[in-house]
Amino acid sequence: MKPIVAVLGSLNMDFVVSVDVLPAPGQTVLGSGFQMIPGGKGANQACACGRLGEGAVFTRMAGRVGYDLFADHLKASLAAAGVDVSAVHATKAQPTGVALIWVDREGQNSIVVASGANHEIAPADAAALRHVFRDASYALFQLETPLQAVQAAMLVAREEGARTILDPAPAQPLPPNVLSLVDILTPNETEALLLLGKPPGAISQTEAPQVGRALRSQLGVETVVLKLGGGGCLWMNEKETIATPAFPVTAVDSTAAGDTFNGALAIALAEGKPVPEALRFANAAAGLSVTKIGAQASIPPRADVFKLLS
Ligand code: RIB
Repeated sequence: MKPIVAVLGSLNMDFVVSVDVLPAPGQTVLGSGFQMIPGGKGANQACACGRLGEGAVFTRMAGRVGYDLFADHLKASLAAAGVDVSAVHATKAQPTGVALIWVDREGQNSIVVASGANHEIAPADAAALRHVFRDASYALFQLETPLQAVQAAMLVAREEGARTILDPAPAQPLPPNVLSLVDILTPNETEALLLLGKPPGAISQTEAPQVGRALRSQLGVETVVLKLGGGGCLWMNEKETIATPAFPVTAVDSTAAGDTFNGALAIALAEGKPVPEALRFANAAAGLSVTKIGAQASIPPRADVFKLLS
Protein backbone atom coordinates (compact mmCIF):
# COMPACT_ATOMS: atom_id res chain seq x y z
CA MET A 1 0.00 0.00 0.00
CA LYS A 2 1.25 3.51 -0.84
CA PRO A 3 1.86 5.85 2.11
CA ILE A 4 -1.09 8.19 2.75
CA VAL A 5 -1.02 11.91 3.47
CA ALA A 6 -4.17 13.73 4.61
CA VAL A 7 -4.87 17.47 4.44
CA LEU A 8 -7.58 19.44 6.22
CA GLY A 9 -7.86 23.04 5.12
CA SER A 10 -9.10 25.83 2.91
CA LEU A 11 -9.99 25.93 -0.76
CA ASN A 12 -10.10 29.37 -2.40
CA MET A 13 -10.47 30.66 -5.91
CA ASP A 14 -7.60 33.16 -6.28
CA PHE A 15 -8.19 36.36 -8.28
CA VAL A 16 -4.67 37.36 -9.28
CA VAL A 17 -3.57 40.72 -10.73
CA SER A 18 0.00 41.75 -11.56
CA VAL A 19 1.03 45.26 -10.48
CA ASP A 20 4.28 47.23 -10.68
CA VAL A 21 4.14 48.17 -7.00
CA LEU A 22 1.72 46.90 -4.33
CA PRO A 23 -0.91 49.59 -3.59
CA ALA A 24 -0.52 51.66 -0.41
CA PRO A 25 -3.64 52.34 1.73
CA GLY A 26 -5.97 54.71 -0.15
CA GLN A 27 -4.02 54.31 -3.41
CA THR A 28 -5.43 53.07 -6.73
CA VAL A 29 -2.93 51.42 -9.06
CA LEU A 30 -3.37 49.98 -12.54
CA GLY A 31 -2.71 46.26 -12.84
CA SER A 32 -2.62 43.77 -15.68
CA GLY A 33 -2.92 40.09 -16.51
CA PHE A 34 -5.97 39.16 -14.41
CA GLN A 35 -6.25 35.40 -13.82
CA MET A 36 -8.46 33.08 -11.74
CA ILE A 37 -6.24 30.33 -10.33
CA PRO A 38 -7.14 27.55 -7.86
CA GLY A 39 -5.68 28.26 -4.43
CA GLY A 40 -6.30 28.18 -0.69
CA LYS A 41 -3.57 27.08 1.68
CA GLY A 42 -5.12 23.69 2.37
CA ALA A 43 -5.89 22.92 -1.27
CA ASN A 44 -2.43 24.13 -2.35
CA GLN A 45 -0.80 21.75 0.14
CA ALA A 46 -3.01 18.89 -1.05
CA CYS A 47 -2.23 19.74 -4.68
CA ALA A 48 1.51 19.75 -3.87
CA CYS A 49 1.18 16.34 -2.18
CA GLY A 50 -0.76 14.94 -5.13
CA ARG A 51 1.45 16.36 -7.88
CA LEU A 52 4.78 15.79 -6.15
CA GLY A 53 3.79 12.43 -4.74
CA GLU A 54 2.52 11.17 -8.08
CA GLY A 55 2.61 7.37 -8.15
CA ALA A 56 4.31 7.17 -4.75
CA VAL A 57 1.95 8.67 -2.15
CA PHE A 58 -1.85 8.79 -1.90
CA THR A 59 -3.38 12.14 -0.85
CA ARG A 60 -6.78 12.86 0.71
CA MET A 61 -8.25 16.33 1.23
CA ALA A 62 -11.02 17.44 3.59
CA GLY A 63 -12.60 20.89 3.36
CA ARG A 64 -15.72 22.96 2.66
CA VAL A 65 -16.87 24.73 -0.48
CA GLY A 66 -20.12 26.42 -1.49
CA TYR A 67 -22.62 25.37 -4.14
CA ASP A 68 -21.06 27.34 -7.00
CA LEU A 69 -18.87 27.10 -10.08
CA PHE A 70 -15.69 27.87 -8.13
CA ALA A 71 -16.26 24.74 -6.05
CA ASP A 72 -16.37 22.53 -9.15
CA HIS A 73 -13.23 24.15 -10.50
CA LEU A 74 -11.31 23.77 -7.24
CA LYS A 75 -12.26 20.13 -6.81
CA ALA A 76 -11.37 19.41 -10.44
CA SER A 77 -7.93 20.99 -9.99
CA LEU A 78 -7.21 18.73 -7.01
CA ALA A 79 -8.62 15.63 -8.69
CA ALA A 80 -6.36 16.32 -11.70
CA ALA A 81 -3.41 16.30 -9.30
CA GLY A 82 -4.52 12.86 -8.09
CA VAL A 83 -6.06 14.01 -4.80
CA ASP A 84 -9.07 12.19 -3.31
CA VAL A 85 -11.63 15.01 -2.81
CA SER A 86 -14.49 12.87 -1.53
CA ALA A 87 -14.25 14.62 1.87
CA VAL A 88 -14.52 18.12 0.35
CA HIS A 89 -18.18 18.79 1.14
CA ALA A 90 -20.45 21.61 -0.03
CA THR A 91 -22.42 23.84 2.32
CA LYS A 92 -25.41 26.05 1.52
CA ALA A 93 -24.45 28.45 4.31
CA GLN A 94 -21.64 30.28 2.47
CA PRO A 95 -20.08 30.63 -0.98
CA THR A 96 -16.72 29.06 -1.81
CA GLY A 97 -13.75 30.98 -0.38
CA VAL A 98 -11.97 33.52 -2.57
CA ALA A 99 -8.65 35.33 -2.31
CA LEU A 100 -7.72 38.66 -3.91
CA ILE A 101 -4.02 38.69 -4.72
CA TRP A 102 -1.72 41.42 -6.07
CA VAL A 103 1.74 40.37 -7.24
CA ASP A 104 4.46 42.98 -7.81
CA ARG A 105 7.53 43.04 -10.10
CA GLU A 106 9.71 41.41 -7.41
CA GLY A 107 7.30 38.51 -6.97
CA GLN A 108 6.07 39.81 -3.59
CA ASN A 109 2.35 39.63 -2.95
CA SER A 110 -0.51 40.94 -0.81
CA ILE A 111 -3.45 38.63 -0.17
CA VAL A 112 -6.94 39.23 1.21
CA VAL A 113 -9.04 36.11 1.84
CA ALA A 114 -12.84 36.01 2.10
CA SER A 115 -13.10 32.63 3.82
CA GLY A 116 -16.75 31.85 3.05
CA ALA A 117 -17.37 28.11 3.25
CA ASN A 118 -13.92 27.42 4.73
CA HIS A 119 -15.19 28.84 8.02
CA GLU A 120 -18.11 26.41 8.10
CA ILE A 121 -15.89 23.54 9.27
CA ALA A 122 -16.70 22.99 12.93
CA PRO A 123 -15.03 21.01 15.73
CA ALA A 124 -18.01 18.63 15.63
CA ASP A 125 -17.04 17.66 12.05
CA ALA A 126 -13.75 16.13 13.17
CA ALA A 127 -15.23 12.78 14.20
CA ALA A 128 -16.91 12.36 10.80
CA LEU A 129 -13.53 13.00 9.16
CA ARG A 130 -11.79 10.15 10.98
CA HIS A 131 -11.71 8.07 7.78
CA VAL A 132 -9.67 10.83 6.08
CA PHE A 133 -6.87 10.39 8.61
CA ARG A 134 -7.08 6.59 8.84
CA ASP A 135 -3.73 4.98 7.95
CA ALA A 136 -2.23 8.39 7.08
CA SER A 137 1.40 8.77 8.05
CA TYR A 138 1.22 12.59 7.95
CA ALA A 139 -1.69 15.01 8.37
CA LEU A 140 -1.36 18.63 7.25
CA PHE A 141 -3.16 21.65 8.71
CA GLN A 142 -3.05 25.44 8.31
CA LEU A 143 -5.02 28.32 9.86
CA GLU A 144 -7.52 29.33 7.15
CA THR A 145 -10.15 27.10 8.79
CA PRO A 146 -11.43 27.74 12.34
CA LEU A 147 -8.78 27.04 14.97
CA GLN A 148 -11.06 24.89 17.13
CA ALA A 149 -11.87 22.69 14.15
CA VAL A 150 -8.16 22.36 13.37
CA GLN A 151 -7.53 21.39 16.99
CA ALA A 152 -10.29 18.76 16.99
CA ALA A 153 -9.10 17.31 13.67
CA MET A 154 -5.46 17.19 14.82
CA LEU A 155 -6.55 15.15 17.81
CA VAL A 156 -8.39 12.68 15.55
CA ALA A 157 -5.38 12.55 13.17
CA ARG A 158 -3.09 11.71 16.08
CA GLU A 159 -5.50 9.07 17.39
CA GLU A 160 -5.29 7.50 13.92
CA GLY A 161 -1.49 7.42 14.23
CA ALA A 162 -0.65 10.30 11.85
CA ARG A 163 2.12 12.78 12.58
CA THR A 164 0.71 16.31 12.45
CA ILE A 165 2.29 19.18 10.48
CA LEU A 166 0.86 22.62 11.26
CA ASP A 167 1.58 25.57 8.99
CA PRO A 168 0.73 28.50 11.32
CA ALA A 169 -0.49 30.64 8.41
CA PRO A 170 -2.06 33.17 8.31
CA ALA A 171 -0.09 34.17 11.42
CA GLN A 172 -1.98 34.13 14.71
CA PRO A 173 -1.09 33.35 18.33
CA LEU A 174 -1.62 29.69 19.21
CA PRO A 175 -2.82 28.37 22.58
CA PRO A 176 -0.98 25.52 24.35
CA ASN A 177 -3.85 23.06 23.75
CA VAL A 178 -3.32 23.43 19.99
CA LEU A 179 0.49 23.42 20.13
CA SER A 180 0.51 20.25 22.21
CA LEU A 181 -1.07 18.41 19.22
CA VAL A 182 1.61 19.53 16.74
CA ASP A 183 4.51 17.27 15.76
CA ILE A 184 6.08 19.56 13.17
CA LEU A 185 5.49 23.34 13.12
CA THR A 186 6.51 25.15 9.92
CA PRO A 187 6.43 28.95 10.41
CA ASN A 188 7.87 31.49 7.98
CA GLU A 189 9.69 34.51 9.39
CA THR A 190 6.55 36.59 10.05
CA GLU A 191 4.76 33.69 11.74
CA ALA A 192 7.80 32.71 13.81
CA LEU A 193 8.24 36.22 15.18
CA LEU A 194 4.53 36.62 15.92
CA LEU A 195 4.47 33.29 17.78
CA LEU A 196 7.39 34.53 19.88
CA GLY A 197 5.57 37.82 20.59
CA LYS A 198 8.20 39.81 18.64
CA PRO A 199 7.67 42.59 16.08
CA PRO A 200 7.69 41.56 12.40
CA GLY A 201 11.00 41.62 10.54
CA ALA A 202 13.53 39.48 8.74
CA ILE A 203 15.45 36.64 10.40
CA SER A 204 19.11 36.40 9.34
CA GLN A 205 20.90 33.07 8.89
CA THR A 206 22.83 33.73 12.11
CA GLU A 207 19.67 34.53 14.09
CA ALA A 208 17.73 31.52 12.74
CA PRO A 209 19.09 28.86 15.18
CA GLN A 210 18.28 31.11 18.14
CA VAL A 211 14.73 31.70 16.82
CA GLY A 212 14.29 27.94 16.21
CA ARG A 213 15.46 27.15 19.78
CA ALA A 214 13.14 29.82 21.23
CA LEU A 215 10.16 28.42 19.27
CA ARG A 216 10.84 24.91 20.52
CA SER A 217 11.30 25.89 24.13
CA GLN A 218 8.53 28.53 24.37
CA LEU A 219 5.93 26.61 22.34
CA GLY A 220 6.89 23.10 23.44
CA VAL A 221 6.76 21.69 19.88
CA GLU A 222 8.92 18.65 19.09
CA THR A 223 10.16 19.76 15.65
CA VAL A 224 10.28 23.26 14.18
CA VAL A 225 11.00 23.91 10.51
CA LEU A 226 11.70 27.59 9.99
CA LYS A 227 10.94 28.62 6.39
CA LEU A 228 13.30 31.44 5.43
CA GLY A 229 12.35 31.99 1.76
CA GLY A 230 15.55 32.75 -0.18
CA GLY A 231 17.48 31.80 2.97
CA GLY A 232 16.34 28.16 2.74
CA CYS A 233 15.03 26.38 5.82
CA LEU A 234 16.13 25.27 9.26
CA TRP A 235 14.91 21.96 10.76
CA MET A 236 15.31 21.73 14.53
CA ASN A 237 14.46 19.08 17.09
CA GLU A 238 16.17 17.42 20.05
CA LYS A 239 18.09 15.06 17.74
CA GLU A 240 19.27 17.32 14.97
CA THR A 241 19.60 20.82 13.55
CA ILE A 242 19.71 20.89 9.76
CA ALA A 243 20.11 24.08 7.71
CA THR A 244 19.28 23.60 4.02
CA PRO A 245 19.96 26.35 1.46
CA ALA A 246 17.33 27.47 -1.03
CA PHE A 247 17.81 26.83 -4.74
CA PRO A 248 18.69 30.08 -6.52
CA VAL A 249 15.77 31.01 -8.79
CA THR A 250 14.35 34.12 -10.44
CA ALA A 251 11.25 34.94 -8.41
CA VAL A 252 8.10 35.72 -10.38
CA ASP A 253 5.47 35.09 -7.68
CA SER A 254 5.97 33.74 -4.15
CA THR A 255 2.27 32.75 -3.75
CA ALA A 256 2.00 29.18 -2.41
CA ALA A 257 5.77 28.67 -2.09
CA GLY A 258 5.25 27.83 1.58
CA ASP A 259 2.35 25.51 0.74
CA THR A 260 4.46 23.75 -1.89
CA PHE A 261 7.24 23.34 0.69
CA ASN A 262 4.87 21.77 3.23
CA GLY A 263 3.29 19.38 0.73
CA ALA A 264 6.68 18.34 -0.61
CA LEU A 265 8.12 17.84 2.87
CA ALA A 266 5.16 15.71 3.93
CA ILE A 267 5.29 13.38 0.94
CA ALA A 268 9.08 13.04 1.11
CA LEU A 269 8.88 12.10 4.80
CA ALA A 270 5.91 9.79 4.13
CA GLU A 271 7.98 8.03 1.46
CA GLY A 272 10.64 7.43 4.12
CA LYS A 273 13.28 9.78 2.75
CA PRO A 274 15.90 10.78 5.34
CA VAL A 275 15.26 14.27 6.74
CA PRO A 276 18.12 16.07 4.88
CA GLU A 277 16.90 14.61 1.59
CA ALA A 278 13.27 15.52 2.35
CA LEU A 279 14.31 19.11 3.11
CA ARG A 280 16.25 19.42 -0.17
CA PHE A 281 13.24 18.01 -2.05
CA ALA A 282 10.93 20.54 -0.34
CA ASN A 283 13.30 23.47 -1.04
CA ALA A 284 13.61 22.45 -4.69
CA ALA A 285 9.82 22.19 -5.12
CA ALA A 286 9.24 25.55 -3.38
CA GLY A 287 12.00 27.16 -5.46
CA LEU A 288 10.42 25.99 -8.71
CA SER A 289 7.00 27.22 -7.56
CA VAL A 290 8.17 30.85 -7.29
CA THR A 291 9.27 30.87 -10.93
CA LYS A 292 5.63 30.80 -12.07
CA ILE A 293 2.59 32.94 -11.33
CA GLY A 294 -0.29 31.60 -9.24
CA ALA A 295 -0.84 29.07 -6.50
CA GLN A 296 -1.72 25.59 -7.83
CA ALA A 297 -0.65 26.66 -11.35
CA SER A 298 2.91 27.06 -10.06
CA ILE A 299 3.33 23.76 -8.19
CA PRO A 300 5.83 21.71 -10.21
CA PRO A 301 5.44 18.05 -11.21
CA ARG A 302 7.57 15.46 -9.40
CA ALA A 303 9.84 14.92 -12.41
CA ASP A 304 10.84 18.62 -12.54
CA VAL A 305 11.92 18.53 -8.91
CA PHE A 306 14.08 15.44 -9.45
CA LYS A 307 15.61 17.16 -12.50
CA LEU A 308 16.56 20.18 -10.40
CA LEU A 309 18.00 17.90 -7.72
CA SER A 310 20.05 15.78 -10.13
O1 RIB B 1 -0.69 30.45 0.55
C1 RIB B 1 -1.23 31.00 -0.61
C2 RIB B 1 -2.73 31.02 -0.54
O2 RIB B 1 -3.13 31.91 0.45
C3 RIB B 1 -3.42 31.49 -1.79
O3 RIB B 1 -3.66 30.46 -2.73
C4 RIB B 1 -4.70 32.13 -1.28
O4 RIB B 1 -5.85 31.43 -1.60
C5 RIB B 1 -4.49 32.22 0.23
O5 RIB B 1 -5.21 31.28 0.88
